[in-house]
Amino acid sequence: MRFDTAQLLKRSFFCERSLLVSMAAWIPAIAPLEMKWGLARFIWQSAETAHALRNRVFELRFPSRMLEEEGSDSALIELFSGVKHSPSVPAFLRSLAKVLLPGMRDSYRTYLEASDPIADGPTHRFLSLALSEKDEQILAFEEWSESALAGNPALREEAIVWTQAVASRLSDVGGARSGSSGPLAGSKTYVIPARPARDPRFFPCRFYWPDIVDPDFPYGEGLQLQLRSAISHLNEVWAIEAGGVILSAFAGWIHDSARWTYDESRHCRMGYERLMAWGLEPAQIPLGTYIYESASGEDPIYLLGMLYFFETKNIRHKPARAQLFHTYGDSLSEHDMDFDWADETMHAGYGKHWLKELLAARGQDPAAYDQIRERCEQLVRDYVGTATAKEVDEIQKVANVLIAKGAQR
Ligand SMILES: [Fe+2]
Ligand SMILES: [Fe+2]
Repeated sequence: MRFDTAQLLKRSFFCERSLLVSMAAWIPAIAPLEMKWGLARFIWQSAETAHALRNRVFELRFPSRMLEEEGSDSALIELFSGVKHSPSVPAFLRSLAKVLLPGMRDSYRTYLEASDPIADGPTHRFLSLALSEKDEQILAFEEWSESALAGNPALREEAIVWTQAVASRLSDVGGARSGSSGPLAGSKTYVIPARPARDPRFFPCRFYWPDIVDPDFPYGEGLQLQLRSAISHLNEVWAIEAGGVILSAFAGWIHDSARWTYDESRHCRMGYERLMAWGLEPAQIPLGTYIYESASGEDPIYLLGMLYFFETKNIRHKPARAQLFHTYGDSLSEHDMDFDWADETMHAGYGKHWLKELLAARGQDPAAYDQIRERCEQLVRDYVGTATAKEVDEIQKVANVLIAKGAQR
C-alpha cells in the first residue's frame, strides 16, 4: 500500500542525504583530483536521487507535505552520518565501498524486485537509475580505497577494523531498525581541514599564478590568456572543496549545493583536460591553495562568501574571453568558457540567495550578505600579503616556463 511504500522511500531519502553530507565533508582531505571530481559527481547523483525520493514520498502521502523526522530509522541514519567521523581517508573510503554503498544498492534492488512497476512506476524510473549509479560508485570507491591504502599501508589495519565496526552496526540497526546508537568505536570527531590536500603530481604552491601576488604581471592576451584561463579552471579545485564544506556544514540546501559542488568539479576538470591536451606535464603546472586557506579557521559562512565573491567578481569577463578565444581559433577554450558562464550565472544566484537565508536563520540581517563578501575580499588581501619573496620568485619561474612551452607549440 502507498503508505508502507512511502515509509521505505523516506528511509532511503534520509540515508542518501546523510551519506552525501558525509561524502562532501571529506572532499578537502582527499588529495587526488580524480577522487575530488568523482566525489563531487557522486554527491550530485545522491542529491538528485534524494530529491526524487522526497517528492515521491509527498506524492504517496498526499495530502500530507510533512516529511517528519527519521523516527524508527534514526539509528540507521545516525550510522550514515557517523562515517563523517571516520578515522582516516582510507577508512572512510573503505567503509563506503564495502558496507554503506552496497547496502543501499541491495535495498534499491530489493525494492525494485518487490514493488509494483505499474502502480509505482514513477519510483521505478528514478530508482533504476539510482541503482546503476550505486554500482558505479561502489567500483570507484573500491578502487580509491585500495589506492589510498597502497599509498599508506600503515592505515590498513585501522581501516579494516573501522569497516567491520560500520558493518556490524549496519546489521544491528538494519535488522531491528533500532538498537545501538552513539559514536562508532574508533571514530575521530570530524573537523574541517585547515589545509586542503593537494594532488602530489602537480607543482605545489599557495599562489598559483604571478598576477595574484604581483600586480605588474599581466593577465595577458593570446597564448598567455589561454594558459591563464586553463590554470584558473584547474585551480577551481578550491571551489569544489568550498562547496563540499558548506554542504556538510549547513546541510540545509542540499540540492543546490550538491549541483554547485559538481559544477566546480567540471570547471576544474575542464582546465585539467585543456592543459593535458596542450601536452603540458602536471609537475610543471601550479596547483594552489590560497583561496581555501584565506578562509581557514573562519566560520564556514566565509567559504560560502568566497564562492560568492569570486563568482561575482569574475563573471563579467567570461563572455568577452569566450569571444577572444573564438578569434584565436581556440574552440576548446571557447567552448569551456561558454558552458562555464552558464553555470556561474546560476551560482551567483545561489550565493546571494543562500547567504541571505543563512543570515536570516541566524537571526541576522539578510541584507548583510554584502558585508560577508567585503570581509572575504579583505581576508584574501591579507592572505596574499603573506606571500614571501621566494614564493613570488618561484611562481614567476614556473609561469615563464609554461608560457615558453606554450609558445613553442
Ligand atoms: Fe566555477
Ligand atoms: Fe561557480
